[in-house]
Amino acid sequence: MAADGKEIRVEQLSEGQLDALIEAQNRIFEDYIIQIRSSRQFFMDFLRSVGGDLREVIVSMDGDQIVGYVCPVIDGDEAWIGGLGVLPSHRRRGIGTRLMLAAEEKCRSKGVREVTLEVIEGNDLAKRFYEKLGYAGSRRYLTAEGRPARFEGFGQMPEPATQAEIVRMHARSYADTCWQKRTVHAIMSSARGAERYKVDGGFVLLRVVETNAFIPFLGVLPEKRRTGVATSLTRFALNRLWNLGAFKVTVYNVNEDLPTLRLLDMFDFKVTMKEIEMKKNMAGK
Ligand SMILES: CC(C)(COP(=O)(O)OP(=O)(O)OC[C@H]1O[C@@H](n2cnc3c(N)ncnc32)[C@H](O)[C@@H]1OP(=O)(O)O)[C@@H](O)C(=O)NCCC(=O)NCCS
Repeated sequence: MAADGKEIRVEQLSEGQLDALIEAQNRIFEDYIIQIRSSRQFFMDFLRSVGGDLREVIVSMDGDQIVGYVCPVIDGDEAWIGGLGVLPSHRRRGIGTRLMLAAEEKCRSKGVREVTLEVIEGNDLAKRFYEKLGYAGSRRYLTAEGRPARFEGFGQMPEPATQAEIVRMHARSYADTCWQKRTVHAIMSSARGAERYKVDGGFVLLRVVETNAFIPFLGVLPEKRRTGVATSLTRFALNRLWNLGAFKVTVYNVNEDLPTLRLLDMFDFKVTMKEIEMKKNMAGK
């Protein structure tokens, strides 16, 4: 094993290294702030949902062992870091920094002007690490959990929606939200396995996996906000999930703004995790 980070090679993930990458991820995240268990399916589904490409993954190699990786996801002139980590045995040797610099170099060479990433609140070490690299916090997102419930009367009764209708409404209602949630890949991959409903001015997607329910998207068009659309879509969704036999409902990456907090509170959802969005401008560096 290399005594410092110098003999560590930083290179593109090569074909045939996927299983080794998954194994490395599981060791990297063993002591992580939340539990993560990767698998081929988990990682490929994740990549698909954010529009990522396995060929963009960069790894650090100690001999023939993967000891770190970074997964940049490039979309036009923006990019997002969809995962970074170094094996516990190899930390504090500059490998994380080298991986990030290699990812930024790749982004820059493809015309990216801004890189975004998220850090779980409480992962202070990672936050400081990114600050040292020039990233600054921009806002926070929440994960929250609640329960399905019976409701009657939803105002405007939602109707099943086509994928194309959802994609159109998503583009307008999620324009200014978190990176993963506003990419068209995210909505396409969520919509595939979910029930889709629309009303005049908004839409909701819901899905049940065993007894866990998810509301991957609930969007209201800008001109229809503050008219009760979100409340009635939420009532409808929670009632539908009750009928589908779910016990628990999770929502990920919701904005931490007043209307959203009020909505969560109204339906007795509890915040379980906060994520800090951080950004770095690539111009002129
Ligand atoms: C965050 C992580 C990728 C950093 O990788 P690394 O190879 O240890 O990072 P580097 O050696 O390049 O560290 C660069 C700087 O970050 C800061 N830093 C990194 N680890 C630190 C620690 N344990 N305590 C304090 N500062 C730390 C230091 O300023 C360090 O510079 P220094 O060693 O000259 O003081 C690594 O700790 C990791 O994989 N953590 C678990 C997964 C994770 O949290 N990923 C990020 C998810 S958002």
